[in-house]
Amino acid sequence: MEEHDLYTLIGEDGFQRLVAAFYRRVPTDDILGPMYPPHDLAEAERRLRDFLVGRFGGPPRYIEERGHPRLRMRHMPFSINEAARNRWIELMGRALQEAALPEPAEALLREFFGAVATMMINRQ
Ligand code: HEM
Repeated sequence: MEEHDLYTLIGEDGFQRLVAAFYRRVPTDDILGPMYPPHDLAEAERRLRDFLVGRFGGPPRYIEERGHPRLRMRHMPFSINEAARNRWIELMGRALQEAALPEPAEALLREFFGAVATMMINRQ
């Protein structure tokens, strides 16, 4: 399957359920909770959802609103070490389980998240 067919497979609803399941776990997490803006979590949720939708073949809302993603640069203000990276992946892994997306969507997303999260490491 091409990456850009993922949106056709799981649709707006699939991304919505996945990202909601992820952000529901963020506020109470001891590592990630303090990093995310407490008053802006709904907006943060929307940014990640729109980014993923556009990245995998859906409407380009993220780029229209925020421009080129430049994800590594945008994550520089946050101290992301290996432990934070692994925790992000752990929470997203549980969100993927909860969302129960059809294969090959889950495997493709797991691989994508793993690779991008490793690129976000910016502190020892
Ligand atoms: C490695 C661990 C990661 C940590 C600790 C982390 C943390 C954060 C934080 C604290 C924000 C700010 C929330 C907001 O206001 O939007 C953010 C934004 C964002 N993150 Fe991550 N992130 C991680 C990995 C990832 C990965 C793997 C992706 C993509 C697959 C991603 C995509 C995004 C996007 C699209 C935004 C919004 C950027 C913007 O337009 O300002 N992040 N992240």
